[in-house]
Amino acid sequence: MNIQIINGPNLNLLGKREPGIYGSEGFESYLETLKSKYAEINLHYFQSNVEGELINKLHEVGFSFDGIILNAGAYTHTSIALADAIAAIQVPVIEVHISNVHARESFRQHSMIAGNCKGVIAGFGLKSYELALTSFL
Ligand code: DQA
Repeated sequence: MNIQIINGPNLNLLGKREPGIYGSEGFESYLETLKSKYAEINLHYFQSNVEGELINKLHEVGFSFDGIILNAGAYTHTSIALADAIAAIQVPVIEVHISNVHARESFRQHSMIAGNCKGVIAGFGLKSYELALTSFL
């Protein structure tokens, strides 16, 4: 089973970025934990701060993989282009957020992409990714 995790802007700074909101663990170390816990899954990881690169990755894996876990960061709230890319591909996408976006500023409470995703998981810290992953099993 091939599952692609895609992290969007500023998520390369996890562990350093606003640790009160996003925690103190970097994503690379969390990914190693996930990979060893779910050794039977081929977990692929991509991060970019560039909107078009996120879209290119969706196109690249979106017709052949088994699932995509997408934390689009702030592009979640702004990007029609990402929403269109999710609609264009065949592989199901799960929108994830580390923080509970519904308990934060009002601009974070709307997602441009959720309607094109299979489901949304938010607010469980890095565990949001594991919850999304197990939904594909
Ligand atoms: C986030 C929530 C977004 O509103 C924010 O812009 C992020 C991270 C989260 O994982 O909680 O960059 O997607």
